[in-house]
Amino acid sequence: MKDSSEKLIWDQKSTPQARTSSSPKLMVWTILFVSLTYVLYTFKLVTTSTTCTHGPFSINRISSSNNATSPLISSSPSPTDLRHVVFGIAASSKLWEHRKNYIKLWYKPKLMRGVVWLDDRVKTHRKEGLPPVKISTDTSNFPYTNKLGHRSALRISRIVTETLRLGLKDVRWFVMGDDDTVFVTENLLRILRKYDHNQYYYIGSLSESHLQNIFFSYGMAYGGGGFAISYPLAKALQKMQDRCIKRYPGLYGSDDRMQACMAELGVPLTKEIGFHQYDVYGNLFGLLAAHPVTPLVSLHHLDVVEPIFPNATRVEALKRLTIPMKLDSSALIQQSICYDKKSRWTVSVSWGFAVQIFRGLFSAREMEMPSRTFLNWYRRADYTAYAFNTRPVSRNPCQKPFVFYFSNAKFNSTQQQTLTQYKRHRVPHPECRWRMPDPSAIENIIVYKKPDPHLWDRAPRRNCCRVIKSNQQGTMVIDVGVCKSGEVAEI
Ligand SMILES: *[C@@H]1O[C@H](CO)[C@@H](O)[C@H](O)[C@H]1NC(C)=O
Ligand SMILES: *[C@@H]1O[C@H](CO)[C@@H](O)[C@H](O)[C@H]1NC(C)=O
Ligand SMILES: *[C@@H]1O[C@H](CO)[C@@H](O)[C@H](O)[C@H]1NC(C)=O
Repeated sequence: MKDSSEKLIWDQKSTPQARTSSSPKLMVWTILFVSLTYVLYTFKLVTTSTTCTHGPFSINRISSSNNATSPLISSSPSPTDLRHVVFGIAASSKLWEHRKNYIKLWYKPKLMRGVVWLDDRVKTHRKEGLPPVKISTDTSNFPYTNKLGHRSALRISRIVTETLRLGLKDVRWFVMGDDDTVFVTENLLRILRKYDHNQYYYIGSLSESHLQNIFFSYGMAYGGGGFAISYPLAKALQKMQDRCIKRYPGLYGSDDRMQACMAELGVPLTKEIGFHQYDVYGNLFGLLAAHPVTPLVSLHHLDVVEPIFPNATRVEALKRLTIPMKLDSSALIQQSICYDKKSRWTVSVSWGFAVQIFRGLFSAREMEMPSRTFLNWYRRADYTAYAFNTRPVSRNPCQKPFVFYFSNAKFNSTQQQTLTQYKRHRVPHPECRWRMPDPSAIENIIVYKKPDPHLWDRAPRRNCCRVIKSNQQGTMVIDVGVCKSGEVAEI
């Protein structure tokens, strides 16, 4: 009895690595070691507190590395890279010819490993740049009783298990996605590196729709947005999944089946809101123009929403987004808010995607709310059915924003900065009687920014933007970068 109560107290205080040790002697040594490390660390913190830029979050850090840019939680010897990730893509043979074009946008066969799991044979071509395709194991002997859903949910929920059983080497994470999911893999890695792949992690995000989250779960990773399962968790899942699935014949999809098994394993969802299920219709503009301050990891339901750039096909539009993605992935569609003092305009940059100019001054707290350019998944539901704050599209003719879409980019190696260009979206603007400068005089916006691959190694913060003097008629020039000391979005 004494042993077990000691263990209980110990478990609460122990670091994750120490938890596996069971021999009492080893435990005493570990306690001594941890205490000593703690004392040393505290001492170091006290003596170096003026220069230390990071908080005393984790004892691991001090014993593993002192690298100011290394992730806080990871205790792995080498940082997680693409070669440690295996993608499991859920696809259907019927939509394959069309949907494979989304996969081609992000999948790099030389650098990545992945398998597309299909329900039936499809034509494949060599050198298409796609992952190998496999047919899922037959699941017709599993019960499925949901009247609205489809049996394919069963095979899709088993993709992690089936991919694990391929026995690939040196895997740290299995990442699931649909055939209409586009990943920003650099940012996916930035998220995965925050977590210790030797432990049980189930990482993903919710739906935008409050009703979806109520019907399914606020604790479920929505499959289309993509989610990550650490290797040991996939192993644990593999041992019990088939038994587990049989206990939930009434569930609708694959991701709720996955969540049911995660609940049995006792592993909660670790929410990372850069994974996007995008359970919406209409135009994603409002969401992309005011992305939360976290790396953009994925986009989904691209067949459902309008192309993200006007006058382009869905695939062409996404292809255009890969240009800024290659230059500065961490900054992709990150928002910054500033003001043109002279003209009294509000400027909102969504880097690599669009810039907006509004007449008048909007506060940062208004601008960081997505405007409702999109519709709810449940078409009769209104804005109260989103799981986050939104702002209405203004009816005042003067407040219709002037939108400039990303057109091209280059990198200036002398200055070590990117130049991205945004062209005005020519749509009719209603007449405005405010006596102030008219943004329709601007045709073109140029944004300068230094790439910042370590943006997400620091505490999350929006970049600052500044409108700078332009000699060119019809061109606005903006500088985007880390906020200077004391710099705020104010006028
Ligand atoms: C920290 O790690 C990064 C990436 O692994 C490396 O480029 C950098 O030189 C390291 N810095 C120090 C101070 O060790
Ligand atoms: C739309 O795209 C086509 C082909 O890329 C181009 O010729 C045309 O000028 C574009 N129209 C507008 C309004 O930008
Ligand atoms: C890079 O910037 C410098 C200084 O502004 C300029 O002289 C040069 O032409 C630029 N290079 C390119 C390739 O744009």
